[in-house]
Amino acid sequence: MRMPKWKGKFMIVEAKRLGISIAGKSIVSSVDLHIGDGERVGLIGSSGSGKSMISKAMLGLLPTNATAEGSVMLGDTQVIGADETVLASLRGRYVGAVFQNPASSLNPVLIVGKQVELPLKLHYDLDKADRQKRVIAMLEKVGLDEATANKYPSELSGGQQQRVGIATALITSPRLIIADEPTTALDSITQRQIVDLLVTLVDKAGASMLFITHDFSVLARATTRCYVLDDGQVIESGDTADLLDNPQNAQTKKLVGAARELTLQRKQDCDD
Ligand SMILES: Nc1ncnc2c1ncn2[C@@H]1O[C@H](COP(=O)(O)OP(=O)(O)OP(=O)(O)O)[C@@H](O)[C@H]1O
Ligand SMILES: [Mg+2]
Repeated sequence: MRMPKWKGKFMIVEAKRLGISIAGKSIVSSVDLHIGDGERVGLIGSSGSGKSMISKAMLGLLPTNATAEGSVMLGDTQVIGADETVLASLRGRYVGAVFQNPASSLNPVLIVGKQVELPLKLHYDLDKADRQKRVIAMLEKVGLDEATANKYPSELSGGQQQRVGIATALITSPRLIIADEPTTALDSITQRQIVDLLVTLVDKAGASMLFITHDFSVLARATTRCYVLDDGQVIESGDTADLLDNPQNAQTKKLVGAARELTLQRKQDCDD
């Protein structure tokens, strides 16, 4: 796939004037967002601001009653209005997804090894032995031993389940990982481990990442640049550290302030 360039960098994803409506109600409007090759970019905003809808539009997974307008390019492929066959060839291959709740995104009746193997089976022409070798190597990369391959998701902790989610997303070496609140369901120590693992693996693979969260402390750990979403619109964007130090928009200031309070509260809870 040929990549369009932006400021000398290859564009991994580029949304232009993206709009999403559900049953005639505007949910997201006129969103411009781009991620260059090897960039980790955040999308932050309060609950209901439209973060997941944007990620679903990028994956071609919008609800059937939703309509999208504008443009979302994954490399040189237009996602908006694309056929399911085109979308299916991108999902799990060009773009891998990690979701909020691994317990519900993993198949409960499939052992871990089969789960992680599935995208390889769909997108690559490899024999069984080769696939299994890659699955074991991938499990090791996410910190799970070989025996985990034969376990069911229900036999694992939340953190281990999310490691399986990350292994499943990365097994095909996608160019882009979309992680939609991948740590929200986890306790704060596991949260940090999982964010650090994702960052390390994405960087090692030379992939890019869109990291969705409403937690600024997680955002600072996971991304270098970010977009702030409010009521379906981008209200501010820029370098993550700058934006946290010196938010410009009133709504961003409020979000950063609330996040600081939450971080302090957590620290106090840990100290108590
Ligand atoms: N299937 C649906 N049908 C109708 N409206 C929906 C549907 N899914 C989401 N919405 C609405 O779209 C808006 C954006 O939802 P979205 O899930 O993108 O928010 P979000 O920013 O991801 O929030 P959160 O942080 O809680 O995950 C919300 O107002 C929500 O009520
Ligand atoms: Mg969401």
